[in-house]
Amino acid sequence: MSTSVDAVAKVDATFLLILGISVVVLVLVTALMLFFVWRYHHSRHPEPEHAGESWWLEVVWTIIPTVLAVGMFWFGWDSYQALRAVPENALEVKVEAYMWGWNFEYGNGRRSNILYVPQKTPIKLIMTSRDVLHSFYVPAFRLKRDTVPGMQTYAWFFPKEQGDYDILCAEYCGVKHANMLSTVRVVPEEKYESWLAGELDEEGKGDEALFETYGCTSCHSLDGSEGVGPTLYNIYGKTRILVLPDGTQKEQIADKAYLRRAILYPNEELVQGYEALMASYEGIIPEDELLRMVNWMANQGVGDASLGRQVAEDQGCLSCHSTDGSDVAGPSFRGLYGSMRVVVEDGAEKSVVADDAYIRASILNPKKLLTKGYGELMPAYDALSEEELLALIDWIKTLGVPPSK
Ligand code: CUA
Repeated sequence: MSTSVDAVAKVDATFLLILGISVVVLVLVTALMLFFVWRYHHSRHPEPEHAGESWWLEVVWTIIPTVLAVGMFWFGWDSYQALRAVPENALEVKVEAYMWGWNFEYGNGRRSNILYVPQKTPIKLIMTSRDVLHSFYVPAFRLKRDTVPGMQTYAWFFPKEQGDYDILCAEYCGVKHANMLSTVRVVPEEKYESWLAGELDEEGKGDEALFETYGCTSCHSLDGSEGVGPTLYNIYGKTRILVLPDGTQKEQIADKAYLRRAILYPNEELVQGYEALMASYEGIIPEDELLRMVNWMANQGVGDASLGRQVAEDQGCLSCHSTDGSDVAGPSFRGLYGSMRVVVEDGAEKSVVADDAYIRASILNPKKLLTKGYGELMPAYDALSEEELLALIDWIKTLGVPPSK
């Protein structure tokens, strides 16, 4: 069975109807107003006169607006019903909003931070919020519904066509409200099943991806840059000044036990200078994944990320190389380290792995190791000190490795 009603078509029809009526009324009222201004100007109509009562006129201008208003209400009500009447065969997905991201949980316990759905299956979203009011908004499916802490709301939609559709938050919820973005990814039924079973990991990344799945990266960067919360880059072994709930402070080395507490009970030991914005992840992250996340932080690269990022900024690297995977004038730094590159060396193409030596060589002499498909725009950065060069390479490493095939 496909879907019983096409809610998107109904909402659109209602919108067009109301828009049409509004345009007609606007044109009519404006034209009449202009006509009366002209017709009854005192030069043409010096003497006011009494207009008598008209029974018919009264009836007509009562009935026409009533029909219009009730008609608009009827279509609105009908499309609202379509948005609320969930088909019985709908697939249920739990949605949890938090400052500032979305988490989706599927029937088998699998979680993700973008919403995967099979094509041509009605989807029911059971929604709540971990902290404050948010609003789940998907323009493509004409969906907008508040998510409320301590309460469940629901919405449903029918993904007709494959593709990616934007999810936004439509309720102001704090400083990073505008970044509360995600995607509905509509895939064929078989692809959805294998994704759900964990056979197909489109993100393809290892433990680092967990920080995205649980939304950590919307507040904690992995590359040393400042966010709403402290960066997770090289956090392991650092000395933290912690503020306890009673206001006293203590020093703490960020060891595994501390990192674990900081995820499970974030507000009991707050890092000095940060606000108590983070909700507890107790019961949300399964034990095995928690271990992987703590271990990932403990085993991260060495070197000073803030210096590496600083070098990249000072030297202008970031105007041509993005850190988010997007293509600017040069290849993105995101996922660069360890990837296979096709380079043109002295006119001949060859494949190389982007290891430390490769990155070093392409900074010092970029024209000699040109990545295929990019122009010879980059000058040689041979004036960098050894320390700066090492920091830069270390920082690029923190931007992730490419998906494993
Ligand atoms: Cu969440 Cu705005």
